[in-house]
Amino acid sequence: MDNNKNWIDQRFPLTKVWNEHLAEYYAPRNFNFWYFFGSLATLVLVMQIVTGIFLTMHFKPEETMAFASVEYIMRDVNWGWLIRYMHSTGASAFFIIIYLHMYRGLLYGSYKAPRELIWIIGVIIYIALMAEAFMGYVLPWGQMSYWGAQVIISLFGSVPIIGPDLLVWILGDYAVGDPALNRFFSLHVVALPLILVVLVFLHIVALHTVGSNNPDGIEIKKNKDKNGIPKDGIPFHPYYSVKDVVGIVVFLMIFSAVIFFSPALNGYFLEHANFVEANPLKTPVHIAPLWYLTPFYSVLRAIPPMFGSQFPGVIMMFAALLILFALPWLDRAKVKSIRYRSYHYKIALGVFVVSFIWLGYLGTQPVTPMNAILARIFTVAYFAFFILMPWFTSIGKTKPVPERTTE
Ligand code: HEM
Repeated sequence: MDNNKNWIDQRFPLTKVWNEHLAEYYAPRNFNFWYFFGSLATLVLVMQIVTGIFLTMHFKPEETMAFASVEYIMRDVNWGWLIRYMHSTGASAFFIIIYLHMYRGLLYGSYKAPRELIWIIGVIIYIALMAEAFMGYVLPWGQMSYWGAQVIISLFGSVPIIGPDLLVWILGDYAVGDPALNRFFSLHVVALPLILVVLVFLHIVALHTVGSNNPDGIEIKKNKDKNGIPKDGIPFHPYYSVKDVVGIVVFLMIFSAVIFFSPALNGYFLEHANFVEANPLKTPVHIAPLWYLTPFYSVLRAIPPMFGSQFPGVIMMFAALLILFALPWLDRAKVKSIRYRSYHYKIALGVFVVSFIWLGYLGTQPVTPMNAILARIFTVAYFAFFILMPWFTSIGKTKPVPERTTE
C-alpha cells in the first residue's frame, strides 16, 4: 500500500493534496448546524449530475416525443420513476440548501473581507443554478414547461431596439418550439453542469485560500500555536468529514420521505399543470415558475409597465439578483457575526428575510390588487436592505468580539 502511495506521489501530488485540503486543513472548531449546507450542496450537485445522466439515456429532446419519453421513464424504465423524482425533487432540495447556505453567509458575515471572492463566485453559482433549473423545467414539455418558457423568454423581447431580434435568436424560431427545446436540452445537460462544476471548484479553492469563517466571525489564522497551527482550528478530516456524514444522513432521511410520499409536494416541486402535455393553443389560467424563482418573478410583476413595455420590471428583476454582488462592500460593520452585531442589523436582516419569503409566496399567487400592493412593498423592502446597508451597519452599538471562539 505504502509502495503504491510512493509510486503515485512521485507522479501526482496525492498525499500533498489530501493533507493540504483535508487531513491538515484546519477548520474552526465551532462550526454549527449552518455549516452542513456546503457539503450538502456538493452532494446534491453530484446527485443531480448522476440522475441526470441516467435520465438523458431515455429522454428525447424533440417536441413531439419529449413528454411521452418522460412518461416512458416514469412507467417503463426500471427504477425510472425514482431517478426522475430524485432529479425533480433534487432541484428543489438544491435550492432549499443553497438558500440556507446563503443565509448562513448573512448571519455570520461570511461575505466580508477576506472572503469577497467566495461570495462572488457563490452568487455566480446561484445565477447559473437558476438558469439550469429553468431550462430543466422546460424539458418535460408539460403545459407549465411550455408556458413558463413563453412568459420568461418573451421578457427578452421587451429590450428596447434589439428585443424582437433577440427573442428570435434565443428561440431559433418565432415561438417556443423544437429549436428552443433542443438548445435548452444541450445547455441543461452539458454547458451549465460543466460551468457549475468549475465554479464550485473555484469556490472551494477560494475558500481554502483564506479559510472558513465561523459563527463567531473570528479569524482563526490570527491566533496560532508555536507549530503554526490555529489554536481554534481542528483538522477537517476526520472531525468534519465525520460530522458532515451526520448532516448527509439526516438530509437523506428527509429527502427520501419527500420522494416516496409526496414527490410533487402538492404542486410546489412539480406543478399539476406539468402533468399535462404542452398545448400551444391552450394557455393555463395561472402561469408561475417554481417556488425558488418566484421571489424574482414577484419583483418583475411588481413594477408596472412603462409605455406598454415590461422592460422596467425586467431591469429590476435582474437588479435584484445583481445587487447581491455588491454585498461585501455595502456592509460597513466592524464585526462579522450576528452574535456581536447591533440591533439595527438584526432588525434589517429580519425584515429582509420576511420580505423575501413574502415575495416568493406572492409569486406563486395570481395577481390581485392587494397582492400587487404587497409585492411592491416587499420589493421596496428587498432593495432597501442593500441600499440602506452602508448606513445601518455603521450605526448602533456592536458587542466586543472575543479573542478566541466561544464554544
Ligand atoms: C453548488 C452550489 C454550492 C456549493 C456546492 C457550495 C459549497 C461550499 C462549501 C463546501 C463550503 C464550505 C463548507 C461550508 O461553509 O458550508 C462553502 C462555503 C461558502 N459558500 Fe458555498 N457553495 C455553493 C453555493 C454558494 C452560494 C450560492 C453562495 C452565496 C451566494 C455561497 C457562499 C459561500 C460562502 C460565503 C462560504 C464561506 C462560509 C464561511 O466560511 O462561513 N456558496 N460553499
